[in-house]
Amino acid sequence: MTHKPLLATVLGEKQERPPIWIMRQAGRYLPEYRAIRSEVKNFLELCYTPDLATEVTLQPLRRFDLDAAILFSDILVVPDALGQSVRFEAGEGPVLDPVSVDSIAGLGKEMDPLTHLAPVLETVRRLRAALAREKTLIGFCGSPWTVATYMIGGRGSPDQAAARLFALRHPEAFAALIDVLVETSINYLVAQFEAGADVVQLFESWALNLDDDAFTSRVIEPNRRIVEGVRARVPNAPVIGFPRGAAGNLARYAEKTGVNAMGIDYATPLTFAANLPKHLPLQGNLDPLRLVAGGQQLDDRVDAIITAFADRPHIFNLGHGIVPETPIEHVARLVERVKKG
Ligand code: CP3
Repeated sequence: MTHKPLLATVLGEKQERPPIWIMRQAGRYLPEYRAIRSEVKNFLELCYTPDLATEVTLQPLRRFDLDAAILFSDILVVPDALGQSVRFEAGEGPVLDPVSVDSIAGLGKEMDPLTHLAPVLETVRRLRAALAREKTLIGFCGSPWTVATYMIGGRGSPDQAAARLFALRHPEAFAALIDVLVETSINYLVAQFEAGADVVQLFESWALNLDDDAFTSRVIEPNRRIVEGVRARVPNAPVIGFPRGAAGNLARYAEKTGVNAMGIDYATPLTFAANLPKHLPLQGNLDPLRLVAGGQQLDDRVDAIITAFADRPHIFNLGHGIVPETPIEHVARLVERVKKG
């Protein structure tokens, strides 16, 4: 088998230099992405057109010596596949018709979600065929709580108040929503592995703003069920967990969910992260705005991150997605520095 440095790192093997990928590495900071984006009416059409989704997935790898491609799609294709209306409006982000206590039982009943997601799985197959052998192919889905915050609130919000209240006021309906998301996510991730993904990442972007009980029931438990459910069908499936904002809950998340590797956000202190169990591969955690600003502060922080994690398996990444304002030269400089020192 060809050596894939990034996959090997997820599996616990430290490399001489950290492999690197960048969250949201295909996106609006690239002119070639914007050109393709302007050919389609809406963002979901891009996700559901294998030709175009394959092309935009590969674009960043043509420019930079990245160690992985991440499937181009979105976490909100899952609610779309469950029959909820999802739209992406310019300047506003995603807008969904919120679910209600009564509508939850009907989710996924009209059509098999995997039939709806077939074009995304076709993209995975094409990527598998197109990628150089040493590159890792990353699949993903949103974690149930994070996806539920959009399904309940109808849009992104700074504090997820709508979903937090819904979970407290309607515990049974909320549990049913989490159940359907866990089941659909397991089927979807298994299908991504079968189509050729090497590893999957669970994006729990809204793991913040939760007390420890809520963190256990809404974040840890559903993510644990997904890892277990996927591995029951894909033995030893490699999984990266990214509970953004988990802070003091990071170690507990890693231990209880059984993920192979942990993504850490940029607000996690390096000294704190360095104290997580040494066998645990870590991914992260550069502030995306450092990449916008560039210059000496970028080089210094990149070096500090690499030094902090030098004694464990480490995958270099940002601590959240790259932003559209990022200069391409800064990305090139980052990748070169991580690879060559
Ligand atoms: O990383 C990659 O290159 C793969 C593609 C990817 C996208 N979204 C493409 C995208 C991935 C892995 C995601 C994950 C995602 N989507 C998350 C989790 C990660 C995170 O950032 O916290 C979340 C919360 C979403 C939901 C979402 N999708 C939002 C809130 C938005 C609007 C905000 C924005 O950046 O515009 C999107 C749209 C989106 N997803 C875009 C891209 C490239 C931009 C839309 C466009 O091009 O018009």
